[in-house]
Amino acid sequence: AKTHKIAVIAGDGIGKEVMPEGLRVVEAAARRFGISLEFTTFDWAHCDYYVQHGKMMPDDWFEQLKGFEAVFFGAVGWPEKVPDHISLWGSLLKFRRDFDQYVNLRPVRLMPGVPCPLANKKPGDIDFYVVRENTEGEYSSVGGKMFEGTDRELVLQEAVFTRKGVDRILKYAFDLAQSRPKKHLTSATKSNGISISMPYWDERVAEMGKTYPDVKWDKYHIDILTARFVLSPERFDVVVASNLFGDILSDLGPACAGTIGIAPSANLNPDRTLPSLFEPVHGSAPDIFGKNIANPIAMIWSGAMMLDFLGQGDANYRAAHDAIVAAIEKSLVEGPRTPDLGGNGNTTDVGKAIAALI
Ligand code: NAD
Ligand code: IPM
Ligand code: MN
Repeated sequence: AKTHKIAVIAGDGIGKEVMPEGLRVVEAAARRFGISLEFTTFDWAHCDYYVQHGKMMPDDWFEQLKGFEAVFFGAVGWPEKVPDHISLWGSLLKFRRDFDQYVNLRPVRLMPGVPCPLANKKPGDIDFYVVRENTEGEYSSVGGKMFEGTDRELVLQEAVFTRKGVDRILKYAFDLAQSRPKKHLTSATKSNGISISMPYWDERVAEMGKTYPDVKWDKYHIDILTARFVLSPERFDVVVASNLFGDILSDLGPACAGTIGIAPSANLNPDRTLPSLFEPVHGSAPDIFGKNIANPIAMIWSGAMMLDFLGQGDANYRAAHDAIVAAIEKSLVEGPRTPDLGGNGNTTDVGKAIAALI
């Protein structure tokens, strides 16, 4: 069997606490399903490295990582040591762009055993994907400052939407919608206020929609869409959004489904010419770091998504993914659970319990 090369980067804060549990469970699943993985750990792309070296990563980071199939990634950011835009544009956002990981796939699911903050929701009622554009849009480095320090100070930051960039994320989202029973897609827009890029986005959605006659699609302005996430999450199946709107929706969705501590994400280069990256949706959580109470499930579920991706549709890898998700579900019902879920279990206990269920 093929050996898959995986780069491991834990990053900052709770990234360092949840990563060992992600590895523990992925390794258990790989053993059970006879999947061969080779992990290589990199001790950079974290803020202590920046403090020592004046940069987040060595200059040859791209060369060092480009041969891996996947990067298993914790979280980056420690604002007390390094401003967030420096640490993130110096690491994670570089990976997404330079490795052309244009799909950020973020499942949102109400799991059994998880207390839901919305009234009268049961597992199955919340089960959708946020498909976030991951390389352009509002996350641009085009802009600048003028007249700094004067009363004419001016700050400009452009959003960038390319035909190729918009169409490829829409195609991915429509394909995903087509593969699901509901075959439904929702596009996040804001074409009333953002008067150039968002009408363009809408136009491309309508155009793409024509080539998927069996997919029903609709669109909502981002403001009312956030309200609908809270009031009627059961109506969503695949939600496609630009970079910033997708970022916001992918914290809101998991919060509606109980906790951001379990929300996984896959940053995909679907062409597989360069590594894809698998990481929790959440960040380094400085407020709880050092206590071993972070929920490791987001990291673990991201590992399941990584195995599925490595298998390229192979049934054995799919089974490994499904076994991890089933073990997560069972552990959420039986415990132990971390404090974000009202439990008093710790990070290590949860990781070990899930690994034991594999
Ligand atoms: P955060 O996601 O780190 O934390 C938000 C809140 O959720 C905190 O109260 C935290 O304790 C809680 N939380 C997060 N993950 C949890 C888990 N697994 N279990 C239990 N509780 C959890 O967001 P933030 O506070 O805005 O950001 C902190 C730092 O992380 C910043 O530097 C930010 O830029 C960075 N960040 C990085 C990523 C990433 O690497 N992908 C994502 C988001 C934020
Ligand atoms: C995420 C994070 C990042 C983003 C930050 C840390 C730059 O919030 O992965 O959702 O905005 O994409
Ligand atoms: Mn985010």
